Amino acid sequence: MSQPPVRPGRIRRAPEGFLTPEQIGEVAAGRRDFLRNAFVAATAVAAGTGVARAAEGDPAILTLPEHSTTLGRPVAERPYGTPSQYESGLKRRESPGLTRVAAASVSFAPLQGLFGIITPSGLHFERHHQGWHDIDPARHRLMVNGLVKEARVYTMDDLMRLPSVSRIHFIECGANTGMEWGNVAVPTVQYTHGMLSCSEFTGVPLSVLLDDCGIDRKKAKFVLAEGADGSSMTRTIPLDRALDDVLVAWGQNGEMLRPENGYPLRLVVPGIQGVSWVKWLRRIEVGDKPWAAKDEAIHYIDLLPDGTHRQYTSIQECKSVITTPSGGQTLLDRGFHNISGLAWSGRGKIKRVDVSTDGGRNWRTARLETPVLSKALTRFNIDWVWDGSPAILQSRAMDDTGYVQPNYAQLREVRGTRSIYHNNAIQSWKLAESGDVSNVQVY
Ligand code: MTE
Repeated sequence: MSQPPVRPGRIRRAPEGFLTPEQIGEVAAGRRDFLRNAFVAATAVAAGTGVARAAEGDPAILTLPEHSTTLGRPVAERPYGTPSQYESGLKRRESPGLTRVAAASVSFAPLQGLFGIITPSGLHFERHHQGWHDIDPARHRLMVNGLVKEARVYTMDDLMRLPSVSRIHFIECGANTGMEWGNVAVPTVQYTHGMLSCSEFTGVPLSVLLDDCGIDRKKAKFVLAEGADGSSMTRTIPLDRALDDVLVAWGQNGEMLRPENGYPLRLVVPGIQGVSWVKWLRRIEVGDKPWAAKDEAIHYIDLLPDGTHRQYTSIQECKSVITTPSGGQTLLDRGFHNISGLAWSGRGKIKRVDVSTDGGRNWRTARLETPVLSKALTRFNIDWVWDGSPAILQSRAMDDTGYVQPNYAQLREVRGTRSIYHNNAIQSWKLAESGDVSNVQVY
C-alpha cells in the first residue's frame, strides 16, 4: 500500500478532541524523545505512531464493537436531533468575569470546532442587553410608522405570506475582539473572535414593507428599528441601506429563528455590526434624521486617540482569523498540518487570504473554499509542514474593494488602544516547540 508522502500530524483540539488522554500521553512522551534525536525524528514523521499500531493489530479494528453486532436505536427516538454525546465539549461559552449579570452578557461561538461557513443555530453566539425571551409568535406584532402614507401593523402570519428570500450572511458584534485592544487578554479563538456567526437567514426585504406602507420618498432619510425586549434596543439605519439588502427575518438555517437570536422576528443588516440586527423586532419608524438613541450615543461609539468619539461607525471591515491551529490547541506531531480559518468583510466578498507562519515576514496565499459569498464567512485552508521549531501563525484578508486587513501597529496608529469596537487587526498565534499554541501580539 502506498503511503502519502507526508503523514498528517495530530492535533489536540481545544476544548474537545478525538484523542484519548492515553493517546495524547503516548505521543507527548514520544515527541520528547523525538526532539532529542533528529534522526529518530525523521523516521518517526514518516512512520507515525498510528501506522505502527495498525501493523501490530489495532483493537479498534480487530474487535467487533457492540454497534456492529446489535440492533441500533429506532427512528424518531429524538424527534429533534441533537449532537453526539462525544461532542459535548463543543458549546457556547461565557467569558468568566466579563459581565456582572448573565442576562446582560455574551456567549461566544466555538469557532475552533466548526467546519465550513455555517454556524449551527444552537452554537450561534448570543448577545443580550437584558436577557432573552421565548415570545409567542401569535401575539407578536411589527408596526411600521413615521414618514409613511399609512402606518401598518403586521402579524407573523401577514409577514410570512409575503415573498421571502434566503441569504447567507455573517453577523459580528462590533465588540468582537474588543478585549484585545490594549494587549492579549483571552486564550482561545472562541473568546478572541467568537462574537461571530454565519447563518442562512430567511425573511422579507425591508424595502417590500416600506413600499407597502408608502414611504415619503422626499422626506424619509433614516429608519429606526426597535426590539420588544426590556432593553429598548433601538438603532438608526440610513434609508439607502434599509432599501438595499436589509431583511425582516424569521428563518435561520432552514427553521424559525432560535429564541436567543430573536424569535420570532429580527432585523438582518448584512455587513453591519451586530447591534443593528435588532432582535424580537416590533417597530420600524421612518424619519428624516438619526435618533441618537442610547445605544448609538453612549455605547457603540469608537474612542479615538485624541479623546473624541466616532459615532455611527457600523460597517464590519475586512477581517480574518486562523481557527486551527489556534490558542489552547496543541500540535502533537511535526509534519503536515492543515491551517484553516475564516475571513469576512462587511463591504462585500473576500478576494484573497494570505497566511504567514513566521510572524509576517513571508506570506503564502491560502485556498478560498467555495462558496465565497458577499458579506458572509469564507473558509480558507492552506497546507503546512511543521518542522518542530517555534512559529507565529497569522492570516491577512483582502476584500473585493482592495482593502487589506491591518496589523496591530497600523490599526493602533489610527485608533489608539482604548477603543472597544471594530478591532479587525491581524491575529497572531504562537506555536511553541512543545506544540502548544497561545495568543500573542507581535506588533
Ligand atoms: N436586539 C435586542 N432587541 N436586544 C439586544 O440586546 N443585542 C444586539 C443585537 N440585537 C440585542 C439586539 C447585539 S449587541 C448584538 S451583537 C446582536 O443582537 C447579537 O445577536 P445574536 O444574539 O443573535 O448573536
